[in-house]
Amino acid sequence: MAGHGVHVIVAGNEKGGSGKSTTAFHLAIYLLYQGFRVASIDVDSRQQTLTHYVRNRRAWARDRGLALPHSTHFHLPVGRGDSLKENHRLEFDLFRQAVGEVEHDADFLIIDTPGFDTNLTRLAHSLADTLVTPINDSLIDLNVMAQIDPVTGEPREMSHYSRLVQRARAERLAIDGKTVDWVLVRNRISMLSSRNMRQVQNTLERISLRLGARVADGIADRVIFRSLFSSGMTVFDPLDEDMLGGLPSASHLSARQEYRGLVQALNLPTSQRASARLALRASTAPAEKRADRFLHMLKSET
Ligand SMILES: Nc1ncnc2c1ncn2[C@@H]1O[C@H](COP(=O)(O)OP(=O)(O)OP(=O)(O)O)[C@@H](O)[C@H]1O
Ligand SMILES: [Mg+2]
Repeated sequence: MAGHGVHVIVAGNEKGGSGKSTTAFHLAIYLLYQGFRVASIDVDSRQQTLTHYVRNRRAWARDRGLALPHSTHFHLPVGRGDSLKENHRLEFDLFRQAVGEVEHDADFLIIDTPGFDTNLTRLAHSLADTLVTPINDSLIDLNVMAQIDPVTGEPREMSHYSRLVQRARAERLAIDGKTVDWVLVRNRISMLSSRNMRQVQNTLERISLRLGARVADGIADRVIFRSLFSSGMTVFDPLDEDMLGGLPSASHLSARQEYRGLVQALNLPTSQRASARLALRASTAPAEKRADRFLHMLKSET
């Protein structure tokens, strides 16, 4: 695939704690187990959850002598300079450098974004081939996508985040004529309240039509995700006691099934060795070039 550009997957949502970092990490590990070369970039320089996830995994593997696959990971340092502008510039340069570095060596690049709007968040979104937006399973959290009419349940005004995505899509279209495949996924679905569940799903379907997005089946709320974070493990790792540091539960298997369903719904170009895929990638501008052109557009705006 070298020379044909990396497929960029971005995890994004302005709502904090919706599952972006967990999803980004799971996608990276899934693709590694499929034999792909995977790079990851943590754009959330404040929380660095994805970076902690990656470090926990490395430490877990080292301490137990486990042969686990790892992504090539980049994180942006917390800006320590006095000038906010300088810090942002440094972050932007490092980000661009990281994208350039993985461009020809990775099949997939996973970017985890923070729950707030910065130029870097926007840039990451405009680089996306696939954008995954996990949404906490409540009507309140759907408001982060669009304002809902309380009587009819119809989506009304687009939210700030949805506008950010539309803008990133327009930028992407202007750069190389490609569009961002946007997939919404409900996360932390409560296994108790089925009435609320149906309502959220219906509303989400309507919102997705309005936004030009797709909806994937969701991921249930499961306590195992907490222990997975601290060991840096995922539901895609082998379910053996040594790996997990304890006995696997039925919950692991169900969560794995759900995450597999999500990956399938993403329709990632995993059969990229086929010539059709190579031809498609050849017409896509390399992510590094897209970042440069984005910067030019930004400059001409200011
Ligand atoms: N399906 C799930 N079931 C239970 N807990 C989950 C699930 N998905 C994520 N979590 C937990 O929810 C919390 C938030 O998840 P995560 O850090 O992935 O969200 P985020 O969107 O990246 O947050 P932020 O906006 O702060 O970056 C974490 O403690 C994570 O372990
Ligand atoms: Mg996060």
